[in-house]
Amino acid sequence: MRQDPLAATNAPMFRSLARIAAIGTYVPERKLTNADLERLVDTSDEWILQRTGIRERRIARDDQYTSHLAYAAVADLVARYDVRLDDVDYVIVATSTPDTVFPSVAAGVQARFGIKSCGAVDIQAACAGFTAGLQLANGLILSGLHRKILVIGADALSKITDYTDRTTCILFGDGAGAVLVERTEEGDGHFIASYNSTDGDGGRHVYCSHLAPAIGEYGLIMNGKLVQNGREVYRWAVSKVAEGVAELLRSANVGPEEIDWFVPHNANMRIIEALCERTGFRGDQAIASIAKHGNTSAASIPLAMDEALKDGRLKAGHTLLLHGFGGGLTQAGTILRWSL
Ligand code: UT7
Repeated sequence: MRQDPLAATNAPMFRSLARIAAIGTYVPERKLTNADLERLVDTSDEWILQRTGIRERRIARDDQYTSHLAYAAVADLVARYDVRLDDVDYVIVATSTPDTVFPSVAAGVQARFGIKSCGAVDIQAACAGFTAGLQLANGLILSGLHRKILVIGADALSKITDYTDRTTCILFGDGAGAVLVERTEEGDGHFIASYNSTDGDGGRHVYCSHLAPAIGEYGLIMNGKLVQNGREVYRWAVSKVAEGVAELLRSANVGPEEIDWFVPHNANMRIIEALCERTGFRGDQAIASIAKHGNTSAASIPLAMDEALKDGRLKAGHTLLLHGFGGGLTQAGTILRWSL
């Protein structure tokens, strides 16, 4: 019989009192296909598909911002599950593209859904944001400070994408995913293990300058748009992120064969394949929705999970390894039990 990863984990730091009680997602209606991009920059459907696995992405309307995507994902969650939000006591929004520096997108969620009184923060860990938010929610519940937390990954990357740069504009799309993380009875938590690491020296390889060139000595381009050295980020992803995933498995004392689904950040299909190869996951254990969403940063993991839930692959009782990685260069991973 297959070993239960939850039972196998007895390190106190992995105690959990939290479970995911609901999920909702949203992508904007407008599609940007590879054919559309062929008309914008010197590229081809064949190149994009072969190098990234992306066929199309969803792009927000001009008057639609990250907060609107986040609200729509939470509205989807409420429509699909019999849950109340009025007693949510914390809202965490992971985003690199908040509508405004302040107020936070999270504060907008509190107001929009009539949540009485709650903590509300935006966190920024780029494509690792959603998994970092899950870890924080688990920690806040474990500490006893909070009981019911909305964790949202939402990004409108089209707002910071340079559509004259063929090396980046083919990659990114917009979307949002929300989960409700609730306190459970003692011993019934679903979060099994977590992993974090950052290689800040590599931050210059993918950035978006805002008030000042964040890493000024490198003479960064400061145009408010996303700038990336794709090759460097790729190299980091298939080496350091693969090591991170392996470390996360080790910390939970499980092998890849004991995990039902591997959900890495959907940055590039080739990266997902390389991560599987280097960490021992079979390709069919990976969940990817990159073909139709592109890289949606903090939204990519919940979007992929929800797709697998809707098509029947993901079932209650399954064990998931979620691993976000990107700008920072930061990675955050978590192993958890699915219960929906
Ligand atoms: O979520 C944030 C984290 N970001 C990532 O994980 C992104 C990681 N990087 C990547 O996914 C890949 O590096 C890219 C998809 C961005 C690029 O793929 P690549 O296989 O690394 O291509 P490359 O940068 O090595 O470029 C190969 C060639 C170059 O031409 P030369 O120098 O060989 O003549 C590029 O100029 O492809 C050219 N090229 C393109 N050609 C057609 C670059 N972009 C394009 C394009 N269409 N859109």
